[in-house]
Amino acid sequence: MAMRKKFVAGNWKMNLNKQESEVLAAVLKEKMGVCENADRVDVAVCPPFVYLPIAAKILSGSSIGVGAQDVYFEGNGAFTGEVSVEMLKDVGCRFVIVGHSERRHVIGETDELINQKLKAALEGGIEPILCIGELLEEREKGQTEAVIERHLREGLKEVSKEQMAKVTIAYEPVWAIGTGKTATPDQAQEAHAFARKILADIYDESVAQATRIQYGGSVKPNNAAELMGQPDVDGALVGGASLKVDDFMGIIQGGLSPQGSCGCGCKSGS
Ligand code: PGA
Repeated sequence: MAMRKKFVAGNWKMNLNKQESEVLAAVLKEKMGVCENADRVDVAVCPPFVYLPIAAKILSGSSIGVGAQDVYFEGNGAFTGEVSVEMLKDVGCRFVIVGHSERRHVIGETDELINQKLKAALEGGIEPILCIGELLEEREKGQTEAVIERHLREGLKEVSKEQMAKVTIAYEPVWAIGTGKTATPDQAQEAHAFARKILADIYDESVAQATRIQYGGSVKPNNAAELMGQPDVDGALVGGASLKVDDFMGIIQGGLSPQGSCGCGCKSGS
């Protein structure tokens, strides 16, 4: 089985002010800097657009990557309020989240638009994190797999096998986001295994085995290790708990176990 390095990303959403963003980035850099085994897990933070340059500056020279929460697919022009891939690169972004459920369901983004954004990110050299996942009513109607399949097939349309090396998938059941209701490790594993099966069908087994699939939805220090201990769960996309440095470090620690403690004093299970 492919060894996929765990990837923990913090999605700050529309939270924090300038000073709080600076403090969070700086303390995170400091804590990760003394994490002995920090190189065993990839870590990124995704601040709001306006704080990206600040976070990128503070985190430069650290192992922590910076990502945006969204992007527009056009290169430039009359698109009021939008931000391009080049602009994100210009301020130091390596990653971008596309298709987050809040963008799908609050802002109304379609699979087609999400696919355009994902392709623009790849073509411009930014690594997309494609969010997928079902609403509560879809789960209750037994449509979980159909939604996962549609989000993957539509979101990855015209994305080549080679480009998949730069894509991370985040399975985020919408009913678990910001609700404190986490999917059980079994529910997460089942959905992730299914997503991997679809990737094998779209591409092939080697792409399916190499692609990292994060879990998102109320990940906390006390459930992170168990969730990321599932064979097909390759990390976490963390909202609320990424705003508190100790919680986020605890989740990163969860990504390191069961291989062992990172030795930086951050605790999982607290
Ligand atoms: P949450 O958000 O951790 O606050 O549930 C996860 C996400 O939306 O990415």
